[in-house]
Amino acid sequence: MSCFSFLSRRASRLPRHPAEVDEELSSAYNIHIYTYKELRNATDDFSPSNKIGEGGFGSVYKGRLKGGVFAAIKVLSAGSKQGVREFLTEINVISSVEHENLVQLYGCCVEGDHRILVYNYVENNSLSQTLLGCGHSSLQFSWRTRTKICIGIARGLAFLHEEVRPHIIHRDIKASNILLDKDLSPKIADFGLAKLMPPNATHVSTRVAGTIGYLAPEYAIRGQVTRKADIYSFGVLMLEIVSGRCNRNSKLPIGEQDLLERTWGLYERAELVMLVDTAMDGDFDAEEACKFLKISLLCTQDAPKLRPSMSTVVKMLTGEVAVNDDITKPGLISDFMDLKVRSNDDKPSTYNTVSSGSDQNDHSMSSGNTSCATITFTDISYRS
Ligand SMILES: Nc1ncnc2c1ncn2[C@@H]1O[C@H](COP(=O)(O)OP(=O)(O)OP(=O)(O)O)[C@@H](O)[C@H]1O
Ligand SMILES: [Mg+2]
Repeated sequence: MSCFSFLSRRASRLPRHPAEVDEELSSAYNIHIYTYKELRNATDDFSPSNKIGEGGFGSVYKGRLKGGVFAAIKVLSAGSKQGVREFLTEINVISSVEHENLVQLYGCCVEGDHRILVYNYVENNSLSQTLLGCGHSSLQFSWRTRTKICIGIARGLAFLHEEVRPHIIHRDIKASNILLDKDLSPKIADFGLAKLMPPNATHVSTRVAGTIGYLAPEYAIRGQVTRKADIYSFGVLMLEIVSGRCNRNSKLPIGEQDLLERTWGLYERAELVMLVDTAMDGDFDAEEACKFLKISLLCTQDAPKLRPSMSTVVKMLTGEVAVNDDITKPGLISDFMDLKVRSNDDKPSTYNTVSSGSDQNDHSMSSGNTSCATITFTDISYRS
């Protein structure tokens, strides 16, 4: 008997015999299944005082599990609910992925309508709330710490892209999805989650609206989801880490507002070092910082096939491979369009997963029906 036929019978009995079914589901999928009661106890009935944030997927609570271990408990919002079998199939892949630079999934809860993910709790919040958080954090980011963070993220992403089978494309690499542990080592959060969204969810559009600066043009315009789109986002993120500023800041003078555009201008004038975060008071290795900025530019080149793979990026960052100085212009969405993002109430979503260039054999976890995103390209108005 296949594990699915076993599950379809078992899953339908879920509300009547939760304890028994949880145990069998758990062993069939090799996932720890928490009861709703356990998670209620861990979070003091999902008390607002334990809420640590809210993203596009739902609310996140800090909880203390039986045995005293802290966890981040992500309650998926109503729009993201799936059938038990589908949900567990996706979770099974995520939970089997372990790497020092990825947030570990401890397990989940699939009781009744509840869909909850339980992750290890990462102590020092996200890069967006610390490094880019406008002085709201007391953490100091030295040049050494920044190099460690960049290399760690690159290693985590190389692992997802090249070592995990099927490969996982993250699709939402950004500062708020990089968490920092007690030693300020980075942990990539939320990998694999895009697959949990139902086709009519507006979640991705919500996120896209807030994170447009990380989006590779081919992803934003044509919906092409490949590893190269993650590599572009990584390039933008690394610019933020070196410069200590967000990828877009409308308070700055025109011409400086878009970080990538500004970086390209400085590169052309051989003034890249001017981009490095002044918060380090000049205490950094200028040659290495410029090398990191050039690697960012290699990752954000307009043509996806020119962007290096993440394993090559790791080698360039660590000095095992020389950085090719032959860099072409970055893909800047702002170059040719105003992108408006809307919900897909009345129009079909236009996201597809396609393989292109060197990603022709990119049969990744994202290569299923990913029509959950809602940038509608009829809404893009071209400037000229
Ligand atoms: N494992 C974790 N440990 C500690 N804090 C976490 C953990 N996961 C999430 N958080 C915190 O919870 C908050 C919300 O995270 P969430 O992933 O829901 O939103 P987001 O990253 O801002 O957006 P998105 O839904 O697009 O990922 C973030 O501020 C993050 O710092
Ligand atoms: Mg997140």
